[in-house]
Amino acid sequence: MLAKKPIPFLDLVLSISEATDLVDKELNNHNKRVAFTSLNIADSLGLSNNFKYNLIIAGLLHDIGSFSLKERHEILSYDYRPKHSTNNHSYIGYILLKDFDPLTEIASIIKYHHHSWEDIEELELPETVKLSAQIIHIADRIDVLIDKSKDVLTQVGDICHIIKKDSRVKYKPDIAKEIVKLKNKEFFWLDAISQPEISTFVDKLGYLPLDFDMDIIDKFANMFSHIIDFRSPFTATHSSGVTATAEFLAKAMDFSDNEAFMMKIAGYLHDLGKLAVPVEILDKSASLNTNEFRIVRSHTYYTYRILENITNLEIINSWAAFHHETLDGNGYPFHLNGSELSLGAKIMAVADIFAAITEDRPYRKGMNKRESLKILKTMVKNNKIDSNIVTRLIENFNEISEARESAENRATKEYKEYRSIFEE
Ligand SMILES: [Fe+2]
Ligand SMILES: [Fe+2]
Ligand SMILES: [Fe+2]
Repeated sequence: MLAKKPIPFLDLVLSISEATDLVDKELNNHNKRVAFTSLNIADSLGLSNNFKYNLIIAGLLHDIGSFSLKERHEILSYDYRPKHSTNNHSYIGYILLKDFDPLTEIASIIKYHHHSWEDIEELELPETVKLSAQIIHIADRIDVLIDKSKDVLTQVGDICHIIKKDSRVKYKPDIAKEIVKLKNKEFFWLDAISQPEISTFVDKLGYLPLDFDMDIIDKFANMFSHIIDFRSPFTATHSSGVTATAEFLAKAMDFSDNEAFMMKIAGYLHDLGKLAVPVEILDKSASLNTNEFRIVRSHTYYTYRILENITNLEIINSWAAFHHETLDGNGYPFHLNGSELSLGAKIMAVADIFAAITEDRPYRKGMNKRESLKILKTMVKNNKIDSNIVTRLIENFNEISEARESAENRATKEYKEYRSIFEE
C-alpha cells in the first residue's frame, strides 16, 4: 500500500509557473525572471523575508491568467494596458486563485500587477498589496524592456531613463528611484536575464516550505484543474469528468482509500501539459492540421516533465502522464507497452477515453451507453486498453456515469460563474 507523503508548496507553484510559460517559446522563464528581479528589488528596499516570500510566489504566478498567444504577445509591449477591467489576464489570474486559502493575498497582488501607480495610489488596499503589485509591475516591465539578443549591461542606461521618465505616473516613485540607484550594480541586471533556481533563494529566506496536507492538496489540484480546463469551453469540464471516473475505477479495481485519493489528484493533473497548447488550438472545433495535432499530442509529455520536478509526486505523475500510452506500445509520447505501464496508468487511460467520448462539448453531444461501450470494447480488442478495467467499468456503468455527470455539472456551474466575469 502506498503511504501518504507531504508535497512541498513551492514545488507546486513552480510547476504551474513553468507550465504557463510553455505556451510561448519567447516567454522562456518570464515568470521566474520577474520573481527573481522582484526579489532583488525587495532586497534593495530592505523589505522583510515574509514580504519577499509572498512576492516570489506572486511573481511566479503573475501571468497565470494569460491564456492566449495573442494576449501573451500584447503583454510584451512596454506600454501594455488592459483594455477591459475584468476581461484581462491580471483579473483572470485573481479569479482563479482567490478562493484558495493559502493564495488569497497573492491573488490580490496579481490583480493589480498591471495597474499604474496613479491608478492604485488612492485605492483602499493593504499597503503590502500595493507595494508588491508595484514591484512586480516594474520587474515585469524591466523584463519586457530588455532585448535578450543583446548584452544587458549595454541597455541599462536606456532602461533606467524610461523608468525615471515614467516614475510617479506608472511607478511608485521610491521604487523607480531604487531601480535608478541599481544602475551601476551589475548583478541586478545580470540576475534579471538569468535562469534562476528559485528554490535556492526561497531556502535563503529561511522559510520552511509549506508542506501541504492531503486536504489542501485536494483543493490545490482542483483549482489547478480549473486553470487547465477553463481556458477553453471545449475542455471546461474534462478533468472533472476524468477525475470522477478514475477515482471510481480505482476503487472498483481494489485500490486502497489512499491510492484512490492519489488517483483523484492524478486525474485533476493529467492534462496539465495542455497549458503548453495555445488556446487558439484548443478552441478549434474543426479538425486540426498536422502541426496543430502534433502540438496537442505533446501535452502528456509536458505533464510528465512538469510533474517530475515535484517532490513525492512520482507515482501520481506516472498515473497522470501516461494516459495516451497504449498496451501495444503505439501510444505517445514514451511508447510504453502493457508490461511497462502500471495499473494506475491503465486506469487513467480508460477514464480519459470514457470521459472524452461521453462528455458534452459545445459542438456535439456526448455518446450514449451503447456507442461508448462499443468504442471501449474495440479498443480492448485492438490491444489498446486493459480489458479488466473495461469490464469493471461495464459492471459499474450507471454509478460511474452518475459520478462523472455530477462532477461535470459541478464544473459547468463553476465555469459559468467564471465566464460571467467576461460579460460584466
Ligand atoms: Fe502580466
Ligand atoms: Fe490528454
Ligand atoms: Fe484528458
